[in-house]
Amino acid sequence: MRVLVVGANGHTGRRIVDLLRQGPHEPVAMVRDPAQVEHFTRMEVATVVADLEDPLDRALEASAAEALLFAAGSGSKTGPEKTLSVDRDGAIRCIAAMEAAGLRRYIMLSALRADPESQGSPISHYLRAKGIADEHLRRSELDHTIVRPGRLTFEEGTGRVDVTPDPASGGSIPRDDVAAVMVACLDEEATVGRSIDLLAGTTPIAEALAGP
Ligand SMILES: NC(=O)c1ccc[n+]([C@@H]2O[C@H](COP(=O)([O-])OP(=O)(O)OC[C@H]3O[C@@H](n4cnc5c(N)ncnc54)[C@H](OP(=O)(O)O)[C@@H]3O)[C@@H](O)[C@H]2O)c1
Repeated sequence: MRVLVVGANGHTGRRIVDLLRQGPHEPVAMVRDPAQVEHFTRMEVATVVADLEDPLDRALEASAAEALLFAAGSGSKTGPEKTLSVDRDGAIRCIAAMEAAGLRRYIMLSALRADPESQGSPISHYLRAKGIADEHLRRSELDHTIVRPGRLTFEEGTGRVDVTPDPASGGSIPRDDVAAVMVACLDEEATVGRSIDLLAGTTPIAEALAGP
């Protein structure tokens, strides 16, 4: 399958692209700045340039992708309005474009404790934005998987995770392992329709994803 990686230039997105390059799937990197294309072209990875704040139908069509991995985010350095226009509405635009194109497989990088009703956390506006996008995806016709990691780190991946963590634990997980989980979901039918809480742990990724 050709797989559109949204947020491909990000810390997790680049890891996802690297894993997809190893096969059997073929990544298409969606970036928002033409200057970011060269990095992927050097690796012989196809690119499309598009911004999540604009309609995405053309970018999806140009990518000729059959599946989409959403790994974008506005980050902590922009204001709350970008959390809405990128993390919430950008993800929803991707869902709409997939539906309009008649495509089905959508894997969302969300966050532990994402909740449309989140209150009382310093990042509640972000958790609400992610939670609302996740709800759109659950209500859509798409074959979705929602990956909900704790805090992302730059530590080296272990290939082992915990998919039944205490949501209140405040734990973390290397971006390497989040990327590996996102990619592994593509080939694990049992992940379709699931929301998967995710922290660093001791269970091999394939085993953790195989059952509920
Ligand atoms: N940080 C955490 O602890 C944590 C925990 C749980 C979940 N998450 C989720 O995981 C995601 C990935 O994390 P990360 O650290 O890998 O993110 P990152 O390095 O900040 O990458 C985010 C990517 O999204 C792209 N992007 C932002 N706005 C865009 C737009 N309008 N159109 C197209 N692309 C756009 C960025 O493009 P540029 O490269 O051009 O800037 C960047 O490549 C986060 O965004 C967050 O939702 C994070």
